Amino acid sequence: MTKSDVVIIGSGIAALQLAAHLSEHKNVRVLTKSKLRTANSYLAQGGIAAAIGPADHPEKHVEDTLEAGAFHNDPEAVREIIYEAPNLIQDISKVFDRDSEGKLLLGMEGAHSEHRIVHAGGDATGKNVVEHLISTLKAHITVEEDAFAYELVINPENNRCIGVKVKDSKGNLKEHFSSHIILASGGCGQLYRYTSNAQTVNGDGIALAYRAGADIIDMEFIQFHPTLLYVNGETKGLISEAVRGEGAKLITEEGTPMMEGVHPFKDLAPRHIVSQTIYDYLKNGHKVFLDITNVRDFETRFPTITELCENNGINLTEGKIPVVPGSHFLMGGIKTDLIGRTSIQGLYAIGESACTGLHGANRLASNSLLEGLYQGKKLAEWINKAPTEIISAISVTTKSRHTHKKLKLPSIQQIKDSMMDQVGIVRNELALTNQKKWLEQFKIDKLQTIDSFSKQELTKIFMLITAKLITESALKRAESRGGHFRSDYPAEDDENWLQKSIIHTKKEVE
Ligand code: SIN
Repeated sequence: MTKSDVVIIGSGIAALQLAAHLSEHKNVRVLTKSKLRTANSYLAQGGIAAAIGPADHPEKHVEDTLEAGAFHNDPEAVREIIYEAPNLIQDISKVFDRDSEGKLLLGMEGAHSEHRIVHAGGDATGKNVVEHLISTLKAHITVEEDAFAYELVINPENNRCIGVKVKDSKGNLKEHFSSHIILASGGCGQLYRYTSNAQTVNGDGIALAYRAGADIIDMEFIQFHPTLLYVNGETKGLISEAVRGEGAKLITEEGTPMMEGVHPFKDLAPRHIVSQTIYDYLKNGHKVFLDITNVRDFETRFPTITELCENNGINLTEGKIPVVPGSHFLMGGIKTDLIGRTSIQGLYAIGESACTGLHGANRLASNSLLEGLYQGKKLAEWINKAPTEIISAISVTTKSRHTHKKLKLPSIQQIKDSMMDQVGIVRNELALTNQKKWLEQFKIDKLQTIDSFSKQELTKIFMLITAKLITESALKRAESRGGHFRSDYPAEDDENWLQKSIIHTKKEVE
């Protein structure tokens, strides 16, 4: 058992920004279920959006964020974070690419009205920002790798979160206690067959918070990125939207541009529109390509993507990259305020696991690392000032080794395939109802003690819980909005839905 001032679960940009800004008087423990550098943030290509160009203004960035979010956003959260963006970029400005005069280079991505994406190493923004943050970590931060967080510890007397239980690489149990437990464990991209996400991103944080009784919101809003590299029936990684920002075009097998006449922004339309257009075309057995012949100095501007393509046997001199859409980002998540406070005292969520209201129904490109930087910094400032609270450690790990022989679980691939086919880019009542029934047979809501499950079983349980939250929300939202498209309700229903969010709170375990 350990006791710390702050425990952070996850090691992406939000987690590391928080750790980097916590006072040296705080004893901080970062728990990551794999390795320090294994996180979605490390893979982020495009960049970070901030209104810093001469013709730009934060108000324009606000408008683009609201428009992309189909006005489901919390306008206050949008304004606060977007207006802070230039300062957050300034804090780490030495990381970003510059022109020969030393000015920050500003890229273009979908649904932005201005060039405003700062990037690093061409298309290795996440890696460069994460490495920078790691380089600033001091001795008061302990990083524990291979620490799989599987249950939050809640004091039943006051419903306060006081700790987290983890399993180490050998499956041994450990309890970590703290007055500040922060979930920074990312979204749930791996719930889908096709995804840009790291192998580890299975919805753990959402499931942990839900099991502990925290409010979970907007789970129907999943962003499908239009262009994942597609080789031999599998997705192999992201082809950044910045490639389309530099002039690449989506084309059919015959070479016909696909986005002409679909949206005024054509290839740079909001992601859900581009993904849905590709989906409609692919479902009839066709193939879609990204034509990169118009992109100048492709290999220099996009070294990571060049390597990815070459490693997967794509000959870039032919000028065509095969692509399909895949899950990329969860707009919903654990309901928080701007700095990450959840509905449970002592429990916080930041980064993709949190839902602040910034993204609405569909996230604007390059606003996610921005949100992670914002929440990490602001939560650190708040914790640094908060009075020290002494919490008593209550050991809650079950001593007896229950065996759960009766629990029937599907394979991870079955979960991914069923979510992609029934709760994917295009949804309808029948498919959603079928998926809900399929998920219910596993009776995961009935589980109380889970100490004796293996890490693989826990991963499936967390995936099933998160899948259920997404499916139920998607079934309830009888309209289409942003990343949630219902073929049986293809239009937005402003009268009934604009202000409404679907919130799940687990009551008592039945
Ligand atoms: C991309 O590079 O296309 C992804 C950037 C993002 O999701 O914001």
